[in-house]
Amino acid sequence: MSDTLSPIDTAKFVAARKALDYVEDGMKLGLGTGSTAAWMVRLLGDMVREEGLNIIGVPTSSRTAELARQQGIRVVSLDEAKWLDLTIDGADEFDPELNLIKGGGGALLQEKIVATASDQMIVISDVSKRVETLGHFPLPVEVIPFGWQTTKALVEETLVAMDVLGQQSTLRMSGDAAYVSDEGNHIIDLHLQRIGNARQLALVLNQIPGVVENGLFIDICDKVIIGHGDGRVTVR
Ligand code: 5RP
Repeated sequence: MSDTLSPIDTAKFVAARKALDYVEDGMKLGLGTGSTAAWMVRLLGDMVREEGLNIIGVPTSSRTAELARQQGIRVVSLDEAKWLDLTIDGADEFDPELNLIKGGGGALLQEKIVATASDQMIVISDVSKRVETLGHFPLPVEVIPFGWQTTKALVEETLVAMDVLGQQSTLRMSGDAAYVSDEGNHIIDLHLQRIGNARQLALVLNQIPGVVENGLFIDICDKVIIGHGDGRVTVR
């Protein structure tokens, strides 16, 4: 199947396929969001249908929930599942310590809750997401709609106070309107270029009233499966 794909899709596909080596019958799985995670959900659906695996899936977005149901995967809420064996999700960037930026697809809040409620989180990624220092990809911050402009200003002030490079922030749009997440919130993207102290920034951002969550995943990811355009896979 990967013969007909572009190098980037080949990389995503092979990473997603490799992740299924870690799936066992009876597992409760967190199902990530994005194009790489979508490959994983489709391949997991094949496994469920062809091998009769008993898998319970907790999706991290309404998009993934729909796809998982279409694939015949049993979908339950996190509250029903309570705790998960494994979450498999994509990422926008990962660094050598396996810290991540996530939320490019706008699902960071549910993704972080689900990954944190899992024994293990495996990230599946094409090799282009590997960076030495996080921050080139805009960092998403989910904010409640009430007073979002004030929250945005406070976030910018905080970045200045922390001397984080490139303090621009933009409200994420969907066409002409502000993007609305599955939880009814907006997303502010921080264009930082380089995040020197991601751990500190993650903590400080979440102290600002109006901020619900940020896309820095610190000490959450256990393993990254990296797909390459030539079909090779490496595991970190
Ligand atoms: C969604 C995410 C995605 O995992 C991330 O954006 C990667 O997406 P893709 O696999 O399409 O490159 O965090 O909120």
